[in-house]
Amino acid sequence: MTEQRPSLTDLPAWKALQAHHQQTHDTTLGELFAQDATRGERLTLEAAGLYLDYSKNRVTDDTLKLLVQLAQEAGVEQKRDAMFAGEKINVTEDRAVLHTALRAPRSATVMVDGRNVVPDVHEVLDRMADFARQVRDRTWLGHTGKPITNIVNIGIGGSDLGPVMAYRALEFYADRGLTLRFVSNVDGTEFVEAVRDLNPEETLFIVSSKTFTTQETMANAGSARAWTLAALHDDVAIARHFVAVSTNATAVQKFGIDTRNMFGFWDWVGGRYSMDSAIGLSLMLAIGPGQYEELLAGFHDMDEHFRTAPLHANMPALLALIGLWYDDFYDAQTLAVLPYDHYLSQFSAYLQQLDMESNGKHVTLDGHTVTYQTGPVIWGQPGTNGQHAFYQLIHQGTKLIPCDFIGFVNTLNLLGEHHDLLMANVFAQTEALAFGKTLDQVLAEGVPADLAPHRVFDGNRPTNTLLADTLTPRVLGAMIALYEHKVFVQGAVWNINSFDQWGVELGKVLASRIVPELQADAAPDLTHDSSTNALIRRYRAGRGR
Ligand code: F6P
Repeated sequence: MTEQRPSLTDLPAWKALQAHHQQTHDTTLGELFAQDATRGERLTLEAAGLYLDYSKNRVTDDTLKLLVQLAQEAGVEQKRDAMFAGEKINVTEDRAVLHTALRAPRSATVMVDGRNVVPDVHEVLDRMADFARQVRDRTWLGHTGKPITNIVNIGIGGSDLGPVMAYRALEFYADRGLTLRFVSNVDGTEFVEAVRDLNPEETLFIVSSKTFTTQETMANAGSARAWTLAALHDDVAIARHFVAVSTNATAVQKFGIDTRNMFGFWDWVGGRYSMDSAIGLSLMLAIGPGQYEELLAGFHDMDEHFRTAPLHANMPALLALIGLWYDDFYDAQTLAVLPYDHYLSQFSAYLQQLDMESNGKHVTLDGHTVTYQTGPVIWGQPGTNGQHAFYQLIHQGTKLIPCDFIGFVNTLNLLGEHHDLLMANVFAQTEALAFGKTLDQVLAEGVPADLAPHRVFDGNRPTNTLLADTLTPRVLGAMIALYEHKVFVQGAVWNINSFDQWGVELGKVLASRIVPELQADAAPDLTHDSSTNALIRRYRAGRGR
């Protein structure tokens, strides 16, 4: 909050980018490729097992130079170094931001308030691994002596989205004898359906909550305890069927979980940056400590690249700056993330929290309302399904929608020609989006003149393509860290705090005020607006009928 910096829009590079945009915004991708036969190989970058092709973006060499200059003028490198050094860059919560320490090797030193936190991180990882081995060996027994084979992670937001995304992404590597479920929604339907076919004697709940106060998680954890006790009839059973992942030992104990069954983390890990803390316990149970280590190594590979590579050859920085170019200069409102791998079904949903909870801000670090666009709306779903749903609008609609395509050279499940068909679609889509089809081409195909305009594709739709060899834990770690650092760079340029989330507070507070109004026997005095009052009355009138 104390940070004083010239407004982003007063920085020389910003002004230069505005002028540059005026001069170049009519230049098409077709023209850019025609001018430079090497563009498709030149505007690429390899790091941490990932290959990024950013050539199909509406950028020239000058655009990229100015964007890098903007990042430098905005102090991105200094902010990056401050983050890695454990400075309290989350100023509104007075916290360091050190998810990078979660994947630092044992030999590393990362100081927070005069303490090297790396041994703490590895102590928890070792305990997680020990527990995971017992569950995976079927030597962790439930209260009645049966091995645990069902694992239900209860958590929401960062305590759910990361584990569920990574579990689905790495299911290929999972112990198929274990059933993994994830319960997040306070809607009781999710819990009921998740446990419907499970035997409580064989079921372990992992209650994952940084604060251990989140309404949804506490409600689900309470129902899980009741469900367990209804079958096992003994409070002692809780110790074999519940573990907690949290920073709040007092609340864990109060809930009735033995703190010996608690895996901790720290306030310098933000919820949406916590999937590689103990919050990843469910994933480690599924894929095993060895593969989990590989995942952490992938994160670390990308951390090292981000920390050391110059901005012009820095993958997270480039993704960030190109994205910002569309957000702030082309007024693009959204980014579609389109993974062409069925295992990545939850990747876009995961990125929604990572990006939108981080950069959905409109006040700068020094407390001023921004005069430019900040974080985009993130959306998407795996290809090719999206092609038969919303791609029409991306190709021929009126909105500019930059897209990140993600694909793998090798599939984990080789089945006839499926993978070639899948990847042909990746390459075809980015080609079609970039270069389109002109009226002349359509007419030359013999399409009648009155139909031809409907068949024209303007092209000039920008895409990034991210390609990796195979979806391994290590590659997934690198991919996640890539987007974490991308979000960081954008937040740093926009001069906002990417690490708080005050925007989710008001709704939480109002909901806790409304709960007793819904449940009171006598009609309560309602002091909301007339709409909210009427909705509450209607609900009360029909409730339980
Ligand atoms: O959505 C708000 C939020 O605080 C997220 O940042 C966090 O990931 C989620 O709630 C869950 O919080 P907790 O892990 O404390 O239950």
